[in-house]
Amino acid sequence: MNHTLGLSLLVLVAGLSACDKQASTASTSGAAAGGEAIKFVKTQDGSALEIKHELFDTPAAKEFLASGKNPYIGKDDAIAAGKKIFQLYSCTQCHGPEAGGQVGPALTGPNYNYAKDATNKGMFETVWNGTNGGMGAKGKGLMDPSDANNGITPDELLKVIAWVRSHGSLTGNEDAAS
Ligand code: HEC
Repeated sequence: MNHTLGLSLLVLVAGLSACDKQASTASTSGAAAGGEAIKFVKTQDGSALEIKHELFDTPAAKEFLASGKNPYIGKDDAIAAGKKIFQLYSCTQCHGPEAGGQVGPALTGPNYNYAKDATNKGMFETVWNGTNGGMGAKGKGLMDPSDANNGITPDELLKVIAWVRSHGSLTGNEDAAS
């Protein structure tokens, strides 16, 4: 083996082990690499709600998928973005500009039509897949079944929820995994 080849092998091996390190830190902070993930249920009947894991494509969404905690709670940037997304998806028209209720109920709590909406996981499920009593699914691919790109992404929904929580007394992370 000549020296140049030996050196490049060394560099290659060092590079590979650096990658390994990054991969293992990433997998401890999220479910994307096939780790633990929370199980979603439909607000309509409590049956299993499958949401493709690849839709959880930001660090915050991955953390939520792993723990049920919404990392955007109390984060000003995310709350400001959530307000815009709330308007974009017409939530405003039914729930009012400050989520205080209009045609649809107030979203600020602490009491909800669906008690589970006191948690961020519960509210996520309600908005993603809709309710029996008058609200359709808003999740990506569900809002308009003929268009897989239509609807709110997990990351967007977590920001909307952070904005909604900023108007109420609950953080929704109190009882994260339930
Ligand atoms: C067309 C009107 C309409 C739109 C648009 C709409 N909602 Fe609703 N929403 C309702 C109605 C009506 C209910 C009550 C449904 C029920 O009790 O089953 C509801 C219920 C909810 C609940 C459950 C509240 C509780 O007390 O448990 C949440 C959370 C919610 N909506 C969030 C949203 C968000 C976020 C958006 C935007 C992405 C949105 N909604 C868009 C009409 C709407």
